Amino acid sequence: MDEAQQFESTQSSRREFVANLILAAGTALGLGSLAYRFLQYLYPVIRPLKLIQVLAGKPGDIPADGVRLVHLPEGPVLLEKQGKEIRALSAVCTHLGCIVQWHPGVRQFICPCHHGIYDFNGNVVSGPPPRPLEKLEVKLKDDEVFVVMKSLKEEQV
Ligand code: FES
Repeated sequence: MDEAQQFESTQSSRREFVANLILAAGTALGLGSLAYRFLQYLYPVIRPLKLIQVLAGKPGDIPADGVRLVHLPEGPVLLEKQGKEIRALSAVCTHLGCIVQWHPGVRQFICPCHHGIYDFNGNVVSGPPPRPLEKLEVKLKDDEVFVVMKSLKEEQV
């Protein structure tokens, strides 16, 4: 191999090296972009949720031995009063997420979407719901009812 051929061979392998480097960088960039998009998609599911206390009203707003539906920014809540005890349930049906409605005549929560029925304690009586309504913690402070809920705000994570 003379000098000219050796020079040409060296130039050719440099070009291949640069081409392979560009290809590898492009592939890494593409895969990184895909991974970023995937993590962005998963983030609402995997991010840790912070619990916050949300003002839901006053004890006097809830009818005696009855239920009051309150629409809070974090989701609809059913406040129940039995004697002096106040309890809270999520009003979101555990089947497909419709808002259940209180039917005082039968003392049941009935989901209007697929006729899921829950008792006063949120337990499934009949229909497609796979589990009871979610029980939420209640805190009474200075004659106000607070419900402990998962924060929806990003900055509070
Ligand atoms: Fe409530 Fe289907 S969404 S029963």
